[in-house]
Amino acid sequence: MSKLLVENLTKTYAGTKAVCDVSISIGDGELLCLLGPSGCGKSTVLRMIAGFETPSSGRIVIDGEDVAHLPPDKRPTGMVFQSHALWSHMTVAQNIAFGLKLRGLTREAVRAKVAQVLELVGLAGFDKRYPGQLSGGQQQRVAIARCVVLAPKILLMDEPFSALDAHLRVRLREEVRGIQQRLGLTTIFVTHDQEEALTLADRIVVMNSGRVEQIGSPSAVYAGPATRFVAEFIGTMNMIETMVAAEVASIAGMPFSVESSDGPHRIAMRPEDIALSHLPGPGLPATVERILDLGAIRMVDARLGSGEIVKVQTGKTEACRPGERVWLTAGAMVAFDADGTVRRARPLRPEARLHG
Ligand SMILES: Nc1ncnc2c1ncn2[C@@H]1O[C@H](COP(=O)(O)OP(=O)(O)OP(=O)(O)O)[C@@H](O)[C@H]1O
Ligand SMILES: [Mg+2]
Repeated sequence: MSKLLVENLTKTYAGTKAVCDVSISIGDGELLCLLGPSGCGKSTVLRMIAGFETPSSGRIVIDGEDVAHLPPDKRPTGMVFQSHALWSHMTVAQNIAFGLKLRGLTREAVRAKVAQVLELVGLAGFDKRYPGQLSGGQQQRVAIARCVVLAPKILLMDEPFSALDAHLRVRLREEVRGIQQRLGLTTIFVTHDQEEALTLADRIVVMNSGRVEQIGSPSAVYAGPATRFVAEFIGTMNMIETMVAAEVASIAGMPFSVESSDGPHRIAMRPEDIALSHLPGPGLPATVERILDLGAIRMVDARLGSGEIVKVQTGKTEACRPGERVWLTAGAMVAFDADGTVRRARPLRPEARLHG
């Protein structure tokens, strides 16, 4: 149970900034996900916290102590890597016991802790197996056990399940969430999978090109993206190009109010925030082009008169045919200016029906 403070962390490799001015504070027992595309600097941030990489500038403070002078093995952090770095010549129990023995625990204490942590990760009875006799998911569970058994103040996980199949990933991340909550472990979990971040995190740090784009709870980041990058990276978002003049923009003839200066903008709407009507009425006229059955829901691609495709989420009982004329009305929406900065937007005169 610990607090971590990362202040203005920057890492430059041969003149290029891999991480730029990243500041994050993590509360006791919180699970924070670092989320962003490949190469955005997630692992570099984690490796600096763990001590495997030296920051070019900035501070890392754990429970009030600046850890800059500490080598990795002296830091109160534990790291789980993407590929299970288990020792293949040691049994599961020996792998887990290794760090405990270094700490000088008695044989009895080691045995008790190993049994306890194997139980925690659902591998009771696997102590005598070798890593080569385990599945990929079981090996990752051992890697987690080996880390957790040392009771780190901060648990760091770098895409720990990315080598596993989708089904197993979902199960393991739920297990990790359970373990993390039961032990109250302050955790940073790196992933490039937005769904993984949304389901796991207390808060998400969205990174892009070495910088933090937004920090917030999954629902806050999903419902209120602060930048165009976040809007496009998390979930499905319709982005419709438009020009703003005197705080008014138009999509397929329908006017929208956008609180911004004149120039090109994009209006962003989630598929589930758009209602589809089969009867002529207020809203954007469109033609159904494609219907995808996603099991629990349907995703309808509707083409506006202006030629743009809008994705609309409907219930699975909603009848819809390709070629059908429909009318779309958006509930929540935001706009992004040319710099990608968020602006308030809403439909004007929603009762007016215009022809696209
Ligand atoms: N040792 C290094 N020397 C030079 N450049 C590096 C080094 N390590 C990382 N980089 C660069 O820093 C940037 C960030 O790398 P990092 O590994 O942190 O990305 P990431 O977000 O973890 O990506 P991924 O999702 O692919 O793991 C990349 O452009 C990478 O090429
Ligand atoms: Mg990485």
